[in-house]
Amino acid sequence: MFSNKLLARLRDASAVTVLTGAGISAESGVPTFRGKDGLWQNYKVEELATIQALQKNTQLFWQFYSWRRTMLQNIKPNLGHYALVDFERYFKDFTLVTQNVDNLHITAGNKKIIELHGNILRDRCSKCNTLFPAVTSAGTDIPHCNKCGGTLRPDVVLFGENLNEAALRRAQHAAAECEIFFSIGTSTIVEPAASLPFLSKANGAYVVEINEEDTPLSVHSNEILRGSAGKILPQMAMVIEKLRIK
Ligand code: OAD
Ligand code: ZN
Repeated sequence: MFSNKLLARLRDASAVTVLTGAGISAESGVPTFRGKDGLWQNYKVEELATIQALQKNTQLFWQFYSWRRTMLQNIKPNLGHYALVDFERYFKDFTLVTQNVDNLHITAGNKKIIELHGNILRDRCSKCNTLFPAVTSAGTDIPHCNKCGGTLRPDVVLFGENLNEAALRRAQHAAAECEIFFSIGTSTIVEPAASLPFLSKANGAYVVEINEEDTPLSVHSNEILRGSAGKILPQMAMVIEKLRIK
């Protein structure tokens, strides 16, 4: 199932970087953005996950985020998430870069994680930037900061906003320095995250895509593993465990 080249890298590598997207949480029951039952087809994301919606259509914006938070309350990590906790143990220099805001990697136990698009379980004051745990039952009441009175907003990156610069720089560094780069469950079209595997490949890493479908990265990958992250990652974790017992 895994090529000899990949097996050799898995045995010897110390620097491994993983990029995840919505696909890794699909088996936990979180809808992906661009799939058949994707979030965006029920809700027009260009009306919702944008800075314009937050400013001009605030009630609808909050309804959407409250719905996503409520949905996440009963969701748990799956075997794909847990396998990446093992990866963190196996490789000395491991970085998990995620585009997901669902907190599932942290619940599973990963520590070396960069949340490129923020975390939906936090709010942030628009004025003073203080962070607060999200109020799930907020409904359409817009929460306010108890320090400065400013309005709160989910601590996520919206379309029309820049990513946290330091987080992006760390992710780029991890991509450029690794020996194996895994792109898992992401359509690889939303920038700047979509450029990370290319940066990695240009710097000599072995790029592996784990996805149920083709993406723009597929033809550029050194290895494509077609299938679900929840099945492939636990198998790979077992293989690494065996390979690395000296
Ligand atoms: P997408 O919904 O665009 O892509 C999900 C990918 O996961 C697709 O390529 C699917 O084929 C794949 N997939 C689905 N189920 C899978 C499974 N069980 N195992 C493996 N792969 C599976 O989600 P993202 O690429 O994460 O950003 O989207 C990127 C960004 O677009 C999101 O972070 C979000 C959105 O705009 C912001 O909101 C800023
Ligand atoms: Zn404030």
